[in-house]
Amino acid sequence: MKFFLDTANLDEIRRGIQMGLVDGVTTNPTLISKEGREFWELVSEICRMVDGPVSLEVTALEAEGMIKEARELAKIGENVVVKIPMTEEGIKAVKRLEAEGVKTNVTLVFSPLQALIAAKAGASYVSPFIGRLDDISTEGMRLVEDILTIFSNYDIFTQVIVASVRHPMHVLEAALLGADIVTMPFRVMEQLFRHPLTDIGLERFLKDWEKVPKRGLG
Ligand code: G3P
Repeated sequence: MKFFLDTANLDEIRRGIQMGLVDGVTTNPTLISKEGREFWELVSEICRMVDGPVSLEVTALEAEGMIKEARELAKIGENVVVKIPMTEEGIKAVKRLEAEGVKTNVTLVFSPLQALIAAKAGASYVSPFIGRLDDISTEGMRLVEDILTIFSNYDIFTQVIVASVRHPMHVLEAALLGADIVTMPFRVMEQLFRHPLTDIGLERFLKDWEKVPKRGLG
């Protein structure tokens, strides 16, 4: 399973890359707005840093406007994937963009049938939003399970990006289901490393190591 970072923060991306865990990056207008930077400068820098797909979202509501924006975004780098909202206009745009070789990621997916529609339009990726479903007392991970079943029933190659991830359990459940990708906030990526027994075990090893007579090592 690939790990993407869901952030537009350069420091987080740099630290994730240093961990060796970043297979790609996803952004959205909310994440971009947090950075207070000029848009084109910021996203160009992200695309240069990341050795993997970088999702950048369009903001037009009509297909023509989305296609125009997508073509501009695609010029930033070969790793750009254009994020398109799951609407009728969005799906029209996906079909045309994929036909001309621009990769798309259909975002704001909340039902298995929306994911099927996106796949039928030829989307490279779909992004089901798990945490936002959990927020309204609906089991988000069930959506991932249904999408994976449907895609496997029909040998669909559209990759599933588990998005709106809030905690490590989402990552674990996605991996158990066989999702292609999880995109997570940097905070969650850091949490994946942690286990209290690892800390306790390390502390004990170091204490015991102090008791060992050693030449020259102090
Ligand atoms: O990038 C899309 C998605 O991951 C947003 O997550 O936490 O705003 O629901 P969240």
